[in-house]
Amino acid sequence: MRFDYLNDGNICYNSQIFQADKLRKHRDKYMAEEAQRLNNMLESVKKHVTAEQIYRTRQGSLPIFLRRRAVELREASSGYYSHGVYFKGFGEGGTPTGDIYKLICDNYSSLECFYYHFRHAAEISYGSGFLWLLRKKDKLKLWFAPAGTLPGGGYDQLMALDLWEHAWIDSFESKSDYAMAYIRSFDWR
Ligand SMILES: [Fe+2]
Repeated sequence: MRFDYLNDGNICYNSQIFQADKLRKHRDKYMAEEAQRLNNMLESVKKHVTAEQIYRTRQGSLPIFLRRRAVELREASSGYYSHGVYFKGFGEGGTPTGDIYKLICDNYSSLECFYYHFRHAAEISYGSGFLWLLRKKDKLKLWFAPAGTLPGGGYDQLMALDLWEHAWIDSFESKSDYAMAYIRSFDWR
């Protein structure tokens, strides 16, 4: 099996805030490296599975030749998968409407409050990783997943913000400004 980062990390680009060439460079370097690592490890595996499924496979359930590489497999699969969700988030921008707007207001009291919590969560997240917006039924939660990890299963994954330095440090003054720029570029549909 093979991972195609150009397909899995397709950017529906329409942002007035992010520079298209920087986004593509980000994807074509970091997501491509993770695809390469996965493809090297999994080239003899016939069955197709997603990067998220690979991440969630227990070490004892991996094919024997992969068990000693379980840590590397988890790092590459979580990074690849998280980047895919991140890049797919870019879209028309604007503000959420309909059910998602109601859900945000029910959980955070207002859209402005949600923005505040989101940018604050980005600001205080320590180290490299992704900030996720997760949903379980009518509850939302923000969850920072450090490098090499994904949030636990059982949640709908609505958003993943890349908080590695390579994602923001050249273009934004702070993680907080970057987080708001992503929200303003997000495809809420
Ligand atoms: Fe990244």
